Amino acid sequence: MAYVIEIQDICMHFGGVRAVDGISAQVNPSEIFGIIGPNGSGKSTLINVLTGVYRPTRGKVMFLGQDITGMKPHKIAGQGIARTFQNLRLFHAMTVLENVMIGQHTRLKAGGWQAVLGTRKFRESEREARERAEEVLKLVGLEKMSSEIAADMAYGQQKRLELARALVSEPKLCLLDEPAAGLNSKEAMAMMELIKKIRREKDITFILIEHNMEAMMSTADRIMVMDAGKKIAEDIPEVIKNDPKVVRVYLGEEASHAAENG
Ligand SMILES: Nc1ncnc2c1ncn2[C@@H]1O[C@H](COP(=O)(O)OP(=O)(O)O)[C@@H](O)[C@H]1O
Ligand SMILES: [Mg+2]
Repeated sequence: MAYVIEIQDICMHFGGVRAVDGISAQVNPSEIFGIIGPNGSGKSTLINVLTGVYRPTRGKVMFLGQDITGMKPHKIAGQGIARTFQNLRLFHAMTVLENVMIGQHTRLKAGGWQAVLGTRKFRESEREARERAEEVLKLVGLEKMSSEIAADMAYGQQKRLELARALVSEPKLCLLDEPAAGLNSKEAMAMMELIKKIRREKDITFILIEHNMEAMMSTADRIMVMDAGKKIAEDIPEVIKNDPKVVRVYLGEEASHAAENG
């Protein structure tokens, strides 16, 4: 079976900081591939390499059999990789619908002069874009909020809006960087249910970074554990849960949190 994405020995060094230090992994079609690890272990940096924000210091990224290493972010998006950010990046003053429509700019066919001239082709493509946006809003349960201003929505709704914006480009692979961060445990579980529903209904593969262990365990098919830029484990959730290395990394972190918080 061909992999959706194949990460080959990726290193991303910033000066002396080895943020990602030799990561290899393969993700299968329609898989939810989880990445966990303590803060600073390199999870977001890896996502930034996969989406072209950074050109890796070493290594290769193969997407559907094609080498995408070092491609610019808009090129990679155009190939079918979408993402959400750890910190929300919405257009706060725009409506919900407008925020989602912006996510389609990479795939709109008519633009430029067509737009200036207001041609029929342009109007048709605008209408299709709107319909797709409305459909995606329905998928994430925000269909009744399409004319709300993004900034006025609850945080949990903003997280779902960001997911909708990623999905509207009809990606083959969607990278979610802590989609449940800042949500309470009930909202976090609802977000995970939503991701699973989307996977069932659409032909999308997910890479999911999530700090909430319970949420991750109930969602991912396989989990890779990172620590200090390296992979320390990769397996199905039941095995990861009982892996002494993983327990040590997480317990160590909890202990240090407890110490920090007195
Ligand atoms: N642009 C950058 N320049 C320098 N160091 C960075 C940069 N981005 C991330 N880092 C460092 O790389 C390490 C991994 O960060 P990050 O990928 O954000 O971790 P995580 O998402 O797992 O919390 C951290 O030590 C962080 O400070
Ligand atoms: Mg991060």
